[in-house]
Amino acid sequence: MQLEDRIKKVKEVIKQWKKEGLTVGFIPTMGYLHEGHESLIKKASEENDRVIVSIFVNPIQFGPNEDLENYPKDLDRDTTLCLNAGADLIFNPDKEEMYFDDFCTIVNMNGLTENLCGKSRPSHFAGVCTVVSKLFNIVTPDKAYFGQKDAQQLAVIKRMVRDLSIDVEIVGCSIIREEDGLAKSSRNTYLSKEERIAAIVLNKSLKLAKESLEKGERSSNNIINSIKNTIDSEKLAKIDYIQVVDALSMENIQEIKGPTLIAIAIYIGKTRLIDNFTFKM
Ligand code: PAF
Repeated sequence: MQLEDRIKKVKEVIKQWKKEGLTVGFIPTMGYLHEGHESLIKKASEENDRVIVSIFVNPIQFGPNEDLENYPKDLDRDTTLCLNAGADLIFNPDKEEMYFDDFCTIVNMNGLTENLCGKSRPSHFAGVCTVVSKLFNIVTPDKAYFGQKDAQQLAVIKRMVRDLSIDVEIVGCSIIREEDGLAKSSRNTYLSKEERIAAIVLNKSLKLAKESLEKGERSSNNIINSIKNTIDSEKLAKIDYIQVVDALSMENIQEIKGPTLIAIAIYIGKTRLIDNFTFKM
């Protein structure tokens, strides 16, 4: 497995692979990889001849008071995980390699990005769309893999690829969870022992909501209230949002009639965690 930090070098390697008729699968990440990323890399290596993982903590998708400075890093551990999961190349550029001092092009999306995480993180998706489109231009993958945990990000990337005619298939992959149901996330490592126990409330609240949907509940307000009651019972939890939205447009809905995303963002202490599920009727 190769480790490269230069755009030029990565482009050369990929050009050679394409010359040989090999297909390329791509997993963009910010590092500190866990079993969720591992499952994406494994799937990509089953479906493609070559697999590239990018590891880049993208500064432009973090707001002023977010965790950019403290974002966890462990390149040695990440390298071992990538190697064992079947990656062929890790692209690990630094900020200077990705962004010129006078970089001034931003990929901005109206709609889809204004609700949910976009509400509390207003510049986040412009940062994500910009870096992901730049990475797609560098890697030119046949398929790119994203986790369903970041459901809004997945919907945004799919729409960006469609709107800008980027020639890549976006593959959404299921959420990987801890045994007690907490969705795997690099940010789980911020949690103290007590907070880690409290974090179970995310999945617990969604499970109850799912059960009531399965029993026939169709009112978004009732679903939101049921999730709110569960979260409020945990004293370390503070709600950022609980929303019921159309799974394609990310717009709030009152009555559940078609594919629906039930998404939550909760602070456990200082750590912001997200989780969701899609309900298809
Ligand atoms: O999901 C992430 O880790 C990031 O948002 C991504 C897609 C790698 C872009 O920086």
